[in-house]
Amino acid sequence: MKVLGILGSPRIGGNSDILLDEALAGARDLGAKVEKIALYKKKIAGCLDCGKCNETGVCVIKDDMLLIQKKILEADAVIHSVPVYFWSMTAQMKAYLDRWCAFFDGDWRIHKFYFPKMSKKKIGVITLCGDPDVSIGDPIIKSFKNTCDLSGLKWLGAVRASAFQKGEISKNSKAKKQAYQLGQKATRD
Ligand SMILES: Cc1cc2nc3c(=O)[nH]c(=O)nc-3n(C[C@H](O)[C@H](O)[C@H](O)COP(=O)(O)O)c2cc1C
Repeated sequence: MKVLGILGSPRIGGNSDILLDEALAGARDLGAKVEKIALYKKKIAGCLDCGKCNETGVCVIKDDMLLIQKKILEADAVIHSVPVYFWSMTAQMKAYLDRWCAFFDGDWRIHKFYFPKMSKKKIGVITLCGDPDVSIGDPIIKSFKNTCDLSGLKWLGAVRASAFQKGEISKNSKAKKQAYQLGQKATRD
């Protein structure tokens, strides 16, 4: 069992990072191998909509996303953690998600090359926002959940939390527990 954590915040040790670590700890405590990737350290260009991946299953852009796509394929579950920037996901996370195109065919079905590995994959999301209203994270959750619903990937669930200052979420034991439980769920469902 492998659980991959994808960090969409550029703040290492920030709120998204802390909750992602909680989720990965939950998975690790149930025996999963875990790995975390911080997207801001990677070079990931935006999708070109060239359509080549619809035919070949391979993206024409040769950057760090190719290795990340490989790690996604190898993982049983992928948990994303990302702050809200201007009512949306961070640029790093958006570029990453758009490059998921390579996993799908022209009809947004899982590409036949990846079907055995992708069809059982579980996808979870953690959102952070400075606003006390955690529903500010819902558009991000919708992006990931709709992607799962459209393509047949398994939706693991979401954790929404509010914090503004770097590391402030470490005082929120409820959010940490929810993230931990999301990680545990990734190893079970
Ligand atoms: C560029 C930028 C835009 C932001 N936009 C929003 C926003 O639209 N709504 C909100 O509630 N918080 C917003 N925030 C606050 C962050 O979501 C919040 O500080 C979060 O805890 C950061 O998470 P991190 O520590 O993982 O980076 C923004 C922060 C930055 C830097």
